[in-house]
Amino acid sequence: MKRIGVLTGGGDAPGLNAVIRAVVKSACNHGCECLGIRDSFDGLMGTGRAQALTPADVTGIHRQGGTILGTSNRGDPFAPESGDGGGRTHDVEQAIERFHGELGLDALVAIGGDGTLAIAHEFFRRGIPLVGVPKTIDNDIVETNSTFGFDTAVSFATDAIDRLHTSAEAHHRVMVVEVMGRTAGWIALYAGVAGGADVILMPEIPYRLDLVSARIKERERYGARHSIVVVAEGAAASGGDVMVVEPAREGRLARLGGLGARVAAELEELTGKEARSVRLGHLQRGGGPTSFDRVLATRFGGKAVELVLAGEFGLMVANHPPDITTIPLGEVVRRTKLVPPEFDLVSTARSLGIVFGD
Ligand code: F6P
Repeated sequence: MKRIGVLTGGGDAPGLNAVIRAVVKSACNHGCECLGIRDSFDGLMGTGRAQALTPADVTGIHRQGGTILGTSNRGDPFAPESGDGGGRTHDVEQAIERFHGELGLDALVAIGGDGTLAIAHEFFRRGIPLVGVPKTIDNDIVETNSTFGFDTAVSFATDAIDRLHTSAEAHHRVMVVEVMGRTAGWIALYAGVAGGADVILMPEIPYRLDLVSARIKERERYGARHSIVVVAEGAAASGGDVMVVEPAREGRLARLGGLGARVAAELEELTGKEARSVRLGHLQRGGGPTSFDRVLATRFGGKAVELVLAGEFGLMVANHPPDITTIPLGEVVRRTKLVPPEFDLVSTARSLGIVFGD
């Protein structure tokens, strides 16, 4: 009998609980035991942060957002410590010791984004047998067609844009919607197209607001008196900087945000039209997963257990329709999947008249 640990790391994303459920149910049905590790890799470092998970504990949780195990997107134990640059060696050694000793684990399933997968890779290199499962609403993990959480975030943002359309139309206003996505424009692009936005500003395409303003005025001339502008939090004006709420710190990425409000104020100035902005923020990560995300998360969880049973470690499960495949973790870490400039959805959007500000 194998004892499998499961943990969730990084920002929460709808579908995490569906993966946990799939891992626990399929592992237990194959005669294994499961241990939930709380609060990401922090749970390996202190005592009392692991709990036995049985199928009864995870029944029905595929419908729930968040993660029953808790998560954290701070405190990379391999990040150089300020001062000596040596990393939190003690924490890492303690975690490895507890994994094999006190917790008696044979394998670990680590569910997370780029940060968590990079930590997982380091633990794998130090001898922990593990499998990675990619998650993020940002859809920016390389070597997988999609990650669960993305579809739910896009559906939510699309619904928000639909609602803003009616108010924009009624008041003949410019409505600016800021979405998440960090350095990638996937959420902005998909929600923008699905919601029928007139302008999409995303990190991969530096924008010029005079061009955006020209488009809004042109729309006005032919009788479209409102415009919807979708702004990715990580977008930047040509020659400008990304807007940061809080700079990067030890083991933590910079927090982005605020661009929507700035774009709205500048467009009001440039177009002479009233503009309002809405920042969707963490609402995009909330709520239950869509059916697409539930299915993807379940397939990822099932595949992860299959790999553990086959003794295949150091891999990330990936979505390559119609299959769930694998890729070595080492080929995934420290890379980001951005929207390619030649992506067909960008050119289709352009041919529909959607402006990217370039
Ligand atoms: O990576 C997911 C994400 O939601 C990004 O889109 C966003 O920039 C970031 O996490 C926000 O992180 P936090 O929850 O720490 O504010």
